[in-house]
Amino acid sequence: MSGSSTQGSSTARQQAPFPAAPEIDDPAFESPLDLLIAEHERQHVICEELDRLADGVDAAPLAGRAAEIIEFLRTDLAVHTLDEERGLFPALRQRCRPEDGIELVLERLMAEHSLDHDLVDFLLADLELLALGHRLANPTRFLMNVQAFTATQRRHLAWENATVIPLARRRLTQEDLQALRVDMSARRRQEGKSQA
Ligand SMILES: [Fe+2]
Ligand SMILES: [Fe+2]
Repeated sequence: MSGSSTQGSSTARQQAPFPAAPEIDDPAFESPLDLLIAEHERQHVICEELDRLADGVDAAPLAGRAAEIIEFLRTDLAVHTLDEERGLFPALRQRCRPEDGIELVLERLMAEHSLDHDLVDFLLADLELLALGHRLANPTRFLMNVQAFTATQRRHLAWENATVIPLARRRLTQEDLQALRVDMSARRRQEGKSQA
């Protein structure tokens, strides 16, 4: 898991290429839940990227990295959130048992999605300036928004990986998983079209 990076590993990875988005049709993903896990790992990488960007926001040529993060926040993260809100979470509501306590968990995760949405809007405003090669008038504000976003993301990813995905593996049927895969595949095709 890449969420608890140290300063040392952060420096070592500074020039690493940004990882490509995992593909729903990749046969390595036997279950659509495996794809969601792979996307969570990429979300951890984005948190590290944002941390580095905020650390060096007054110094380095950051336009390329900022553009990559913008692309991720606008497309990949948005699609992933819809996969959960429209596919995974409703399936869990249908299949989980009262003793699973899923309602409270999903309520919290939905509230965090909503908070993420607001924070992403704040981040995009500054990232767009950085992507154009401008300096930020208020880098402290950017740093605070990055810290708020990455803290929420990391907590959220830990909850989903430790609680929601294992529960989904136990409770969802093969038909549920197939429906989830079809839904996720259609959403990615649609996103591809809208990008074209
Ligand atoms: Fe997720
Ligand atoms: Fe989520």
